[in-house]
Amino acid sequence: MNLTELNKVAMAMVAPGKGILAADESSGTIKKRFDAINVESTEESRRDYREMLFRSSEAMSQHISGVILYDETIWQTAKDGTPLVKIIEQAGAIPGIKVDEGTQALPNCPGELITVGLDKLAERLKKYYDRGARFAKWRAVINIDTDNTPTMTAIHANAHALARYAALCQVAQIVPIVEPEVLMDGDHDIDRCYDVTQRVLNKTFQELRIQRVALEGMILKPNMVVPGKKSAKQASVQEVAEKTVRLLKNCVPAAVPGIAFLSGGQSDEEATAHLDAMNRIGDLPWRLTFSYGRALQAAPQKAWSGKAENVAAGQRAFTHRAQMNSLATRGEWKADLEKKKAA
Ligand code: 13P
Repeated sequence: MNLTELNKVAMAMVAPGKGILAADESSGTIKKRFDAINVESTEESRRDYREMLFRSSEAMSQHISGVILYDETIWQTAKDGTPLVKIIEQAGAIPGIKVDEGTQALPNCPGELITVGLDKLAERLKKYYDRGARFAKWRAVINIDTDNTPTMTAIHANAHALARYAALCQVAQIVPIVEPEVLMDGDHDIDRCYDVTQRVLNKTFQELRIQRVALEGMILKPNMVVPGKKSAKQASVQEVAEKTVRLLKNCVPAAVPGIAFLSGGQSDEEATAHLDAMNRIGDLPWRLTFSYGRALQAAPQKAWSGKAENVAAGQRAFTHRAQMNSLATRGEWKADLEKKKAA
């Protein structure tokens, strides 16, 4: 393992003003997104859509540091035959790959999930590296349900899998994005999200140490501390920012180069406002940026709606969101900039 090189890639992933585009929806998830805009999900439509994003040259060269791809996409070529990976590289961004193989029911823990995909991961990572991937992602899902869930069993099993994945990535000279996502489904309040996320992050870093993962060569992708979507008590932008920063300062060692949040079902503008408010707090030991899927793609999906004549509009919508989030990484976003969008 060359840790200097891993650290260089990790730092580039969280370079000031830049963040990550999570375009790694599985075939099932992208079908759901396409259903919402009445587009049939085929290999070709998925390619056309992602090609549109990756050819958004302003967004990709100025605001996006890297793109997380799904297995299908990393092997695909653009309409003109250029590999999609090359288009990303030519824009100056880094290709990455989702390597987990989804979730399964966790035995003895009703309703809880374990992320799978460790078998043969070492061989798969070699192929992805040869294709150009320099970072990877593995997502663990933790659900807050009753007072008894998540169980420590689910937290432990998922943290262990994340750490095994991260160690395998670093040996393959690939920077692991470690993503333990506490879902925002449910009616719990913000303080319950704080407590659960704290347990999850503490266990995750404990397991990372046990597996001897070098913290300078990884990126953390956590949820923000937010109330459940159905909570009667919603929180202000400032409260989310303060509680998230406080939690991260308690749980994430300063050796980690950067933290790139998931959007997790927040609206586009909420996800931007929260990131901005955290960066305004300032004086942080790591860089705070975005690794958004939905919060970067909902607008371009709608603008594009599967029509070739809408490609420019889709690219404008994507560029706008990328630019807003870029400002948020510097704590320089303002709500009224949203109104001036995409003229
Ligand atoms: P969202 O920003 O839509 O949560 O997606 C990010 C991601 O990569 C989830 O695994």
